[in-house]
Amino acid sequence: MEKTVKLLLCALGILLAVEASLFPADPIFDETIRNLNLNGNKFEKVLGGMPAEENEFPYQVAIISTNFTDYDGFCGGSLISSRHVITAAHCIASFVASSVIVGTNQPLNHSSPGYLEVFDTIRTPHPKYDSGLLDYDIALLTLARDVPLGENIQPVLLPRLNTNLNLDGRTGLLTGWGKINDDPNGYLSDDLLKVNVPIVNNQNCVNAYGPIYLNERKVCVATQGGTVGPCLGDSGGPLVVFDSEFGETVQVGLVSFGAAQGCTVGFPTVFTRLTSYIQWIADNGGPAVRI
Ligand SMILES: *[C@@H]1O[C@H](CO)[C@@H](O)[C@H](O)[C@H]1NC(C)=O
Ligand SMILES: *[C@@H]1O[C@H](CO)[C@@H](O)[C@H](O)[C@H]1NC(C)=O
Repeated sequence: MEKTVKLLLCALGILLAVEASLFPADPIFDETIRNLNLNGNKFEKVLGGMPAEENEFPYQVAIISTNFTDYDGFCGGSLISSRHVITAAHCIASFVASSVIVGTNQPLNHSSPGYLEVFDTIRTPHPKYDSGLLDYDIALLTLARDVPLGENIQPVLLPRLNTNLNLDGRTGLLTGWGKINDDPNGYLSDDLLKVNVPIVNNQNCVNAYGPIYLNERKVCVATQGGTVGPCLGDSGGPLVVFDSEFGETVQVGLVSFGAAQGCTVGFPTVFTRLTSYIQWIADNGGPAVRI
């Protein structure tokens, strides 16, 4: 196997995949590009985000370290009950203490409509979290108090227990405030951005990063040649799909890592696969499993 040097950069666990093989051509590329041309909007911006509507993603939260400096010390997350948030374990591992901002598309703007800051009192990184392989990269946060549910604050549904959710070839919806390009002087986005991303077979990520970083607890997401996908500051944030079997939108992944060469180079990105953690979340005080 090729030698892979990895480097964890604060807000997005980034793997420096030296000598990684190039991301192979993705057969759903053209098809997905067509699907993305909603309302005539071209996704010409790097990483392809469009601003979210007010209250469009009431489950989206920002997690901010007390010693944060822009995207360093900033992560995404999702509300899964009025008291619980899930995010990536690598996020909170380097956060001194953190506050969770709910209810707004502009978490860095204290006067934005709906802005509410709460603190996490109990942080539960997965006990098997491996910062080297970024395995079990998930954490459950228990908030200091219940947040008031309303139009702008709502939990996201997690997949049902033992659901047979085949994600390969599906289009997921990703949201976050992460950087929109690889500019080293770039900043977080002020507004929450959303983008459709193609979920691909894990083999695409095995080819890019090597087999030791991939297993059934992860989801591989293509970047359309580096034009769509997560970047620094998006870690921990939610990937949702519409589950037509039950007629509901469910969160299936959270942002874990991408290539240290950059978000726009074209490597696929790796998400934590939530179907592997439904029971763990419930066992640690999160919402009960749905069947
Ligand atoms: C915040 O402090 C922690 C612990 O000292 C450190 O690991 C982390 O890099 C710091 N983050 C920033 C953005 O300074
Ligand atoms: C913060 O939110 C307020 C209220 O919506 C708005 O008037 C102001 O322009 C926002 N500030 C920034 C920097 O976007």
